[in-house]
This record gives sequence, C-alpha cells and structure tokens, in this order.
Amino acid sequence: MCGIVGYTGYRDVIDVLFKGLTNLEYRGYDSAGIAIRDDNKIKIYKSLGKLINLKNEVKEKQTEIVKPTSGIGHIRWATHGSPSLVNAHPHTCTCGNLVVVHNGIIENYKELREQLIKLGCEFRSQTDTETIAHLVAHEYSKVNDLEIAVRNSVKQLQGAYAVCVMHKEVPDVIVGARKHAPMLVGVGEGENFIASDTPAIIEYTKKTIYLDDNEIAVVTKDNVKITDVNGVIVNKKVEILPWEPVALSKLGYKHFMLKEIHEQPDVIRNVLNGKLYDIDAPISLNEVKISADILKKLNKIEIIACGTSLHASLVGKYLIEDFAGISVEVEPSSEYIYRKTTTDSSTLVIGVSQSGETADTITAIKQAKEKNAHVLIITNRPDSNMARLADSLIPVNAGIEVSVAATKSYTAQLISFYLLAIYLAEIKNSLDKSYVKNLKHELIQLPTKIEEILSNTSNIQECARKFSSFKNFIYIARGINLATAYEGALKLKEISYINATGYPAGELKHGPIAMLDETMPVLSILMPGGVCYEKVLSNSEEAKARNAKLIALTSSDDDNIKSLFDVVLKVPQVNEILSPAIACVPLQLLAYYIAEFLGKDVDQPRNLAKSVTVE
Ligand code: M6R
Repeated sequence: MCGIVGYTGYRDVIDVLFKGLTNLEYRGYDSAGIAIRDDNKIKIYKSLGKLINLKNEVKEKQTEIVKPTSGIGHIRWATHGSPSLVNAHPHTCTCGNLVVVHNGIIENYKELREQLIKLGCEFRSQTDTETIAHLVAHEYSKVNDLEIAVRNSVKQLQGAYAVCVMHKEVPDVIVGARKHAPMLVGVGEGENFIASDTPAIIEYTKKTIYLDDNEIAVVTKDNVKITDVNGVIVNKKVEILPWEPVALSKLGYKHFMLKEIHEQPDVIRNVLNGKLYDIDAPISLNEVKISADILKKLNKIEIIACGTSLHASLVGKYLIEDFAGISVEVEPSSEYIYRKTTTDSSTLVIGVSQSGETADTITAIKQAKEKNAHVLIITNRPDSNMARLADSLIPVNAGIEVSVAATKSYTAQLISFYLLAIYLAEIKNSLDKSYVKNLKHELIQLPTKIEEILSNTSNIQECARKFSSFKNFIYIARGINLATAYEGALKLKEISYINATGYPAGELKHGPIAMLDETMPVLSILMPGGVCYEKVLSNSEEAKARNAKLIALTSSDDDNIKSLFDVVLKVPQVNEILSPAIACVPLQLLAYYIAEFLGKDVDQPRNLAKSVTVE
C-alpha cells in the first residue's frame, strides 16, 4: 500500500528519497511523488506509474534543482480519487507553501473539506489527503508554529493517518504524526529519517523509534522530538532493526518471489531453531505467556487473519484440533470485526499476519483485547504494530518478504503452527510420545525435502508452459491439504490473473462439476497416508469423465496416478499431516512460472499491495 519516506541531512536528498521509495515499492502503488526543500523553495515532482517515471521527470527538470536539504516522498495506492497526477502526493495548501504526504484514510474529510472551502481554500484533487494540507496550513496561519499546527490539526482528523508535513517558512523541519497507520523515525548522525516502514531507511541506519498512535515527531538533521497530541514530551526507546540491507536484494534471482521460494528450507531451519532442537525434548515456546495450567483447561481458540495468513491458519486449526483436541475457529479478520463474537477472557485469540500491519487484523486484535482475551500474534514482523499489541508473540523469522505474493512467510507460519500444536499437545499430554517423536524427526527433515524439490523444477516449468494459456483452474483437496488448494489457487490468481479456485474435492459434485470440460484443468492434491488420498483420486476420476485436463500433486508412485493424470508433479514422501509444508512449494513455483511465461509483473501484481493498511 502507500509508502512514505522523509529525510533531512547531509546526503543527496533526492537519492535518499528515491532509494527509500524503491525499498517500499514492493508494497504496491500506482503513482509517486516527492517534495524537496531547495533554494529556499518547496519544489514538487510527481508521476503516474512506476518510480522510474518519477526519476525521469526529476532528471528532465534537473537544471532547476540546486542543492536540496530536506524532502518527503510518497508512493500512492489509490483509495480516494483515481490514480492520476493530480491525486498523487505530495499535496499542498492553496499557496503551495505547505506540503503533505499521507498513508491511511481520513474518514471525516468531506466535512473538513466543506469547512475549508468556506474559508477560501482551493482544492485541486479528489483525495482525502489534500484536506490535511489545507487544514494544517489554516492552523499554521493562526499560530505560526508548524508543530502546534500539526497537533491542532490531527485532533480534528478521524480515521487513519501516517502523515509528514513540511513548510517553506520552517526550513528543514519535517513533522510526522500517526494514528492507526505505521510511522517510524530513523535516527542518524547529522541526519534523520522518517518513514512508514523500515526498508525505507535500512540502508542508512538501524536505529529506529516507532511512533505510537497520537504521537507527533519533529525531525531536524540534528534532533528528534516526540510529543503526544497535547505537546507533552514522550521519551521513546531507540530500537535496533533486525534486518540487513541485503534482505532487499534479489541476489541474482530474476524476481524476489523466486528468491523467497528458494529461501524456504533455511527459513524452516530458522523457525525450528531454538524451539525444536532435540526430538526427545519438549517443544520450547517461551514466547507463549500463558501458564500450562490455563492452557490445559483451554477449550476455545479463535484464529483471525487475511489472505495467505488465513490459509496458514486453516492448517493451524486442523493441527491444534488434531493434536491437542482444542476447538478452533478460523475467521477472516474482515468478517470477525463486523459481528457479535463470543470472544471472552477465556478465549485464546491468535492473530496471524506476515506484515503485522494488516488493518482488518489489527482492528480484530484490538476488539479481542477489549474483551480481555489473551492475544497471541504470529508474525514475520516483530517490529510491527500487531506485535506491539500482543500478549504473546511468536516471531516466524522468515526474514523480510518483498514479493507481494507471500511464499516463505506462509511456510514459516505453517511451521510455527506445527510447533504450537505440538507444544499444546505436550502440555495436555494428548498425543502418543512415539508419534510426537516421529513428527519432530520429520519436521527436521522438511528443509532437505524442499531442497530436493527446488533442485529440479523442470517438470513444474514444463507444466506451467503447457497450462499457461488456460483461463480457469480448479484446485481440489481434502483434509489438511484443503488449505493448500486454497493457497495454491490464490498464488496463481494473484500473480497471473488466471481465475483459479480452491475447492474441497468432495464438494465438486455439489456444483462446480457443472463447469468442467476440456477448458478447465483440475489440479488434485493427493498426499497418501489417510482416507483423503483415495477420495481425491475418485473425485479426480469424476473430473476426467467430464474431459477436464488433470494435474496431480503427489508423493505417490501409484500407477493409477500415472495413467489418470495428464501431468504429475512429484514431491518427496512425507507424513500426510506434514505435507502442506512441502506441497505448497510446487504450487508456488507453478504460479510463478505461469506468470513468468505470461510476462506478468510477478513481484508487484496489479491492484495488490504487500500490506493492506486500510480496512
Ligand atoms: O501481512 P498479512 O499476512 O496480514 O497479509 C494478509 C494478506 O493481505 C496477504 O496474505 C495477501 O493475501 C498476499 N498477497 C498473499 O500472497
């Protein structure tokens, strides 16, 4: 979604803004802009589409730029008003002296806009953001102090904002404020940064101050001052970022998505590290801050998440119910927040999110906390807002994920759920000890099995080539791999724009079978070990009888499979209950290669954002 970076200091300001915005690009955007303080003037450059267009725009105007000393930049993902030059940020007040960039949505912008028009403000865009520019300028005209003007303005805003403001009359001062949208200050020497997310500043500093809701930062090159909305100084902790800049490099891979798929074996090793080190020792989850006594009596868990994290949660439900016998409900955050739930102080609520910034999940977590539930967050971003709300936090340690399509974070979430489910089972003594030992042994083997898949992808590439011209797919599975079908279909949909649906195989004949013919391939996930295998096999026969082309994803060497299916994608043998952790890999690759063959923008698919920070 939108991204913000601000800088004041001794470096090349435009370069810092561009690098920062480039490192936020993965979040998804449709236009970009910067405002710089140069030669005692505020100069604004904007463009539609990718950052390269903005870079070219600035290059063309190079002769008018002297030596900028500070600036703010923004990439916009349109919410209010179409993606257009006039709607791109930064926005200004009527006279152009004050500039603003903003992430989030101002809910009362229409009322404010009407009031400001009556006061003589001239609006040029359809955005909610422009209202902030006029509002702060109006408040500034009353007090002649930018910090106070921002403070007085944000008190009037309803909704979500991370906002950065500069004023021509206040040289090299950037004022930032936030509510329900992330914002941080990067602390340097003789320079300081402000940004909506850490990748924007990681090349320059690891020292970070995270703003909390209703806090205001006044940033100059030599000073950072944080106050609350009433102007009272807040003493904030300077935290050290856990990332290295190399996390933002493709390391020779054509796309971040491919790099991230290949990182999965190491990601699994990271997740297991320190938690499962000896198959004879119990899983160690010090992060779970609930006593064993309470966990033993726990009879309800609710998991809330969106998208890929929701699919990982479905596997989590299966595992916790199967291993620990605790009833688990899984719900999309966007549904949970708009109904009367039964969450109470005896419920364990688990929020799952790669980014830790998904607005719906944050709202859901806040609602659960209001009901006094214990909130456990499983996230890849221990530095996120969601992590800050957690009573217990399981960091999934996948490393920064740049590609919009989640891959390694999904696998890391799955492994976290395996650990959590076994941890609960060990506390409740609900599983046979030798079964647990075996599971742990197989968990440790998973990275090597995934390496086997990654070492030879020619079959998957061949399948992608063969099927890339189809417009519709159905992915079917049963049991624990139903989530794999949902996730595989989502991957294909989001990066190739092909219509793919994950379906419980047993439901095929209750409707979707009507669509089957030679134009609708069916991808069946058949992992031997339980009753599901034979059942999915028969459901695949039913699809074949309707002339559908069939793809099998399986670890089986069964001759029936070879004769029934048009293409067989093989994975190494694995216990059925662990199979989602390896079955997802060929499906990620299949989606990747299809999108590649179709020439799609794999890492930044259209209309999508890496973290969805609006509800
Ligand atoms: O950061 P989160 O895990 O909370 O994000 C949830 C979804 O927006 C995300 O998983 C989305 O579905 C991905 N693009 C999937 O690849």
